[in-house]
Amino acid sequence: MRVIRSTAAMQRLARRCQREGRRVGFVPTMGYLHAGHLSLVHRARRAIGPKGLVVVSIYVNPTQFAPTEDLAKYPRDFARDARLCREAGVDIIFAPSDAEMYPGKSDGRYSAYVVEEKLSRGMEGASRPTHFRGVTTVVAKLFHLVLPDVAVFGAKDWQQAAIVRRMVRDLNFPLRLIVAPTVRERDGLALSSRNKLLTPGQRAQATVLSRALARARAAVKRGPLPAARLKADLARFIAREPLARLDYVECFDADTLQPAARAARGTHLALAVFAGKTRLIDNGRL
Ligand code: PAJ
Repeated sequence: MRVIRSTAAMQRLARRCQREGRRVGFVPTMGYLHAGHLSLVHRARRAIGPKGLVVVSIYVNPTQFAPTEDLAKYPRDFARDARLCREAGVDIIFAPSDAEMYPGKSDGRYSAYVVEEKLSRGMEGASRPTHFRGVTTVVAKLFHLVLPDVAVFGAKDWQQAAIVRRMVRDLNFPLRLIVAPTVRERDGLALSSRNKLLTPGQRAQATVLSRALARARAAVKRGPLPAARLKADLARFIAREPLARLDYVECFDADTLQPAARAARGTHLALAVFAGKTRLIDNGRL
């Protein structure tokens, strides 16, 4: 396994792979890896075969954090990440610095961004207005540096995956996007690097997200209902946890992300909940 820090070296290697016909599978991450990330690594390997090159990027992307958010607190442990990657059969870790990724940014001379204009507006985009501009920008940059044949994203960030899929289509990135299922703790909590920031009390109540999903599934099993009624019920359900504060809960079409007026089997549900200052998200098909 090799660690690459410079954008030029990464792109050189990617172009060599392309010339030699060696397939590249790519998993972008912000590090502090867990079994969810590693499931994407295995999915990438399965997609490109034993001779392909699996690249994992580890980069806490500042442009997707608002000034008020947890960029400085975001957990980091490169030595541990490198060990987990090696054990998972990763070939290349691409871990650039901010200066490599955003040349000129510190003195105001960085000025090109990639913006998706429709799917980015609701849900996470409504709560975090500049977030997806940062995501699409860094993912587009990473795609140009890694030149992957296949890129794997997690269903845990459903809206993010839908936006990246739209960007890939609309801007003609020559790659196949795979979205892999959410990996969960035994008690249902979706794995997330941010779970590390929870106090024991918050951690116990954090299962309210997956419990809300289960409650919504049980509700639609009894028959379709107005989305507003389901959302109000889930808001009350979440309010029963003293350490949890609902940010949003939304019912929508899984592909278009358009809000749904009725919740039924097959409708998608996503929610964001604050536990203290830590913001957790989850989603699933009802
Ligand atoms: P990060 O939160 O590190 O997640 C990296 C990838 O892992 C994303 O595709 C995410 O959906 C996936 N993932 C996270 N938790 C998961 C889980 N429990 N099960 C399955 N997959 C999971 O998402 C980002 O980083 C960034 O926005 C990034 C795309 C790297 C751009 O900076």
